Amino acid sequence: MILDSLKRLEYRGYDSVGIAVAGDGEIFWEKDKGNIASVESRIRQANMPGNCGIGHTRWATHGKPNRVNAHPHFDCTKNIAVVHNGIIENFHDLKEELIETGHRFASETDTEVIPHLIEKNYEGDLLKAVISSVKRLQGSYAIAVATAESKEIIVAKLRSPLVIGIGKGENFIASDVPAILPYTKEVIYLDDQDVAVVSAQSVRIYDSSGNLVTRRVATVQWEQEEAEKGEYRHFMLKEIHEQPEALKNTIDSIIDSRTCQIRFPHLEIPDKFLHEAQSITLVACGTAYHAALVAKYAFTNLTNLPTLAEPASEFRYSPPYIDSHTLLIAISQSGETADTLAAVQEAKKRGAKVLAICNVTGSSLARASDSIIYTRAGPEIGVASTKAYTTQLAAVIALTLHLAELKGKMEKSAQEEILRDLLGIPDAVEKALNVEPQTVEIAEKFKDTTTFLYIGRHYNLATAFEGALKLKEISYIHAEGYGAGEMKHGPIALVQPNYPTVAIATRGAVREKMLSNIQEIKARGGPVIALANPGDTEVKELTDYTIEVPEVREVLSPIVNIIPLQLLAYYIAVKKGYNVDQPRNLAKSVTVE
Ligand code: BG6
Repeated sequence: MILDSLKRLEYRGYDSVGIAVAGDGEIFWEKDKGNIASVESRIRQANMPGNCGIGHTRWATHGKPNRVNAHPHFDCTKNIAVVHNGIIENFHDLKEELIETGHRFASETDTEVIPHLIEKNYEGDLLKAVISSVKRLQGSYAIAVATAESKEIIVAKLRSPLVIGIGKGENFIASDVPAILPYTKEVIYLDDQDVAVVSAQSVRIYDSSGNLVTRRVATVQWEQEEAEKGEYRHFMLKEIHEQPEALKNTIDSIIDSRTCQIRFPHLEIPDKFLHEAQSITLVACGTAYHAALVAKYAFTNLTNLPTLAEPASEFRYSPPYIDSHTLLIAISQSGETADTLAAVQEAKKRGAKVLAICNVTGSSLARASDSIIYTRAGPEIGVASTKAYTTQLAAVIALTLHLAELKGKMEKSAQEEILRDLLGIPDAVEKALNVEPQTVEIAEKFKDTTTFLYIGRHYNLATAFEGALKLKEISYIHAEGYGAGEMKHGPIALVQPNYPTVAIATRGAVREKMLSNIQEIKARGGPVIALANPGDTEVKELTDYTIEVPEVREVLSPIVNIIPLQLLAYYIAVKKGYNVDQPRNLAKSVTVE
């Protein structure tokens, strides 16, 4: 069971794996470097009797991926086993202190201080020992502790995600819901500093002072099948093809298609605040940051509000001006990305109202925000984000239209027109998926290329960044997204016959400018793969490959234009034989700084 559940969590880290099963007076364990598939047979052959155990799949932070650094980690007696998600920032000091008192360390990890601390604090009551030990930890952690003696697992949480699954005569603990979905849909999301004692029969939760507390049992809305590949070769390809449905579910949850009215089910932030908001700051990481970039253009153009889009990892250390009139919008698929959560904390400290756009109910971001707009993309397992991105774009554009009307910057009739177009986006994306065979051909042509340039302007500058990121993430080809107008100020020096440029030249305010930028590249012998709308012969004649995508309103075009770029990256990676769902060095949700 632990192995199967770890497989369903592997998108969160897959460089080494380990399991420990607590039996009568002994801990049986096995661990090694590599993803589960590579060590599975050895673990299955290992003798591990017992029905109480812990497992871990790793994304290395401290100490390279190898057998010694894999989890679980142990105390000196090997009677206490610990698995951990997060970073112990003061592990150096704790390790020195423990070594001075005779503890012997085996690994380079920060995690190993935890079992040794528990061992040091153990005076016959494991719960007490865990509570006093975690009080010494600085940083972030979700930990599970098993011992040779007991049939209970003790868990503790600070910042990193942890859910408890309530079964019948059995109970489960996991970093994320997909791991336990086959067994139960009844889950408890622990709060920060909670400690819980879990056995097959019971779950007891304590707050940081050791008082017994109760936490709400939530029911998961997802079906297990949604978190499986089905007939697709990779989760990423499945999720690319799920975008029309994900967009329809998200848009239908926000717009009443009969009345063309916007309604945000969980928008607790009063319209009065939105009406009086004087600035907007968006924070996010990775692909979600590119959704924030599109939103910046939309808010600036449609609401006239000063709007910034900041990478969360930068925002948290040099935040722009934020006050109680600022609407902070945090975008995150998982709702567990540490940098985004920290940016939200920083903004709240400065009085901002926080609105989250997130895909996971009950996530830390959902619980840390004043308000939430859920995207309805369903579980996204592929490490390279696809359907979460396009649903984030739909959600943030609907929010822009709501704010524009609230601020009197847009007539109801104009808003309705754009909302009708947004309701039509799932069909447009369905059509855009028809370019798949052409992307396979182009992928075959350019799979051995070492550098790719992606250029775009205005709303589609973010499309260029996101297209380049997709290729980097899964094919490991160096790719750069760049403002087309900026090319002549430097990067055009890179242009040469074997370096292709992907140009987003769909109709809109900047198409003419894009044509001149394409000319500049063609004049220097660079091959150009262009995105254009049907019937655009000018682009067709000018470029080496033209991928036709349905024409939609410009503010909505990033949702459609990214589809061919997702497919192109996917097929180049597949043709290079890479593990698309588990690209090297990445993880689906980075819960550490
Ligand atoms: C990275 C993922 O770890 O985090 C990306 O590999 C993602 O796909 C980024 O875009 C941000 O994650 P989230 O969950 O905050 O949107």
